[in-house]
Amino acid sequence: MIWDTAALTGRERYQLLTSLVVPRPIAWVSTWSGEGRRNLAPFSYFAAISATPFLVSVSIGSRRGEDKDTLRNIRRTGAFCVNVATEGQLAQMNETAGEYASEVDEFERAGLLSAEAESVNAPYVANCPAVMECRVFKIVELEGSTNTLVIGEVLRVHLADTVPIVPDTMFADSAALRPLARLWGDFYSTIGDTPALKRPPAI
Ligand SMILES: Cc1cc2nc3c(=O)[nH]c(=O)nc-3n(C[C@H](O)[C@H](O)[C@H](O)COP(=O)(O)O)c2cc1C
Repeated sequence: MIWDTAALTGRERYQLLTSLVVPRPIAWVSTWSGEGRRNLAPFSYFAAISATPFLVSVSIGSRRGEDKDTLRNIRRTGAFCVNVATEGQLAQMNETAGEYASEVDEFERAGLLSAEAESVNAPYVANCPAVMECRVFKIVELEGSTNTLVIGEVLRVHLADTVPIVPDTMFADSAALRPLARLWGDFYSTIGDTPALKRPPAI
């Protein structure tokens, strides 16, 4: 089977893309609204894009032609936190993905406690084992797309004691982190087998 993506409908392109780029890590993004309300929602168009500077990106779609709360808040405050949702938080993460009015505090809806980021103006999920405090680096309007790419510079990282650092490195132990990832539709995945293989030496 071969498809020209231009011949597909938007829905078909979305379904093909999100079932081929898998598994996707989930950025559980927390922000403050301009009016002092907390907001939390998951985004799986999420990627690590640079280590120096320390950059991550999240692509946020529009809802009926308007910015989602997360994007509106990020434009206002210039800040957000990426919380790593873990296996035990699947139901809570899903609860925060509902299409709620801006007034709804998703922390409250999902029964989550928040804390205040130290380096940026954003709340974070208190019991997430890994949190990245992000300052907006660049907001890229994607030509012809209803998505907007938000690039954040991670200024501070929180890691719980339950997630050790591999000795003599700065690698966080992913087996201890147990992050959730998204497949397509309602399907998720967790860390399965993690085979290790040394790279071939340079010749
Ligand atoms: C696992 C998961 C991943 C999602 N990924 C994205 C994404 O990458 N981009 C996006 O625009 N919406 C994504 N969504 C949908 C948003 O979470 C949803 O539209 C949410 O209501 C946005 O909340 P907000 O209006 O408070 O920002 C995802 C939903 C789920 C459950």
